[in-house]
Amino acid sequence: MLLRGLSRLLRDRRAAGPGPRWASGIAAIREQTLVAVKPDGVQRRLVGEIIQRFERRGFQLVGLKLVQAPHDVLSAHYHDLEEKPFYPALIEYMSSGPIVAMVWEGHDVVRVSRVMVGSTSPAHALPGTLRGDLCVHISRNAVHASDSVEVAKKEISLWFHHSELVEWQCCAHSNLYKV
Ligand code: TYD
Repeated sequence: MLLRGLSRLLRDRRAAGPGPRWASGIAAIREQTLVAVKPDGVQRRLVGEIIQRFERRGFQLVGLKLVQAPHDVLSAHYHDLEEKPFYPALIEYMSSGPIVAMVWEGHDVVRVSRVMVGSTSPAHALPGTLRGDLCVHISRNAVHASDSVEVAKKEISLWFHHSELVEWQCCAHSNLYKV
């Protein structure tokens, strides 16, 4: 009985191969990204819906706060866009009211969040995405999500102090991941 169990385990391991085991390893499921509900999203009472999409997808919330974004945080956050003609209007809009900043964690969360958020211009965002369902114009696109793992790390450290992030065990974990 024990031998049969062991040989089945070995067979399953061999069939799975080394790739998938590493691909879904601990590091991959602990990836984190910054998601923010922008001032228009907060004013339009979309915070709950946006949080719900990420929760229902299976990602884990590890940081959350409502902030009036300081100017230095916004200018660092949008540093790459400084030369763009829309930059002054962007900073003004992002300063116009509170923002809900969040850190979400999970497998491939950076890439998947961008898919869930949709194209920068809501006019081109597909139905089913947040921007495709909730917004109409690029200047008021309701939600931000980091666009790469490196950028996510920088943005998380810009918006959150390390002590504001909570490491916790989600009871649904084994229903979301095999590892
Ligand atoms: P960007 O980083 O290019 O897009 P994303 O938010 O999808 O990563 O741009 C940052 C924000 O700047 C974008 O969410 C909305 C605003 N923006 C404009 O107002 N006009 C524009 O033409 C562009 C490209 C962006």
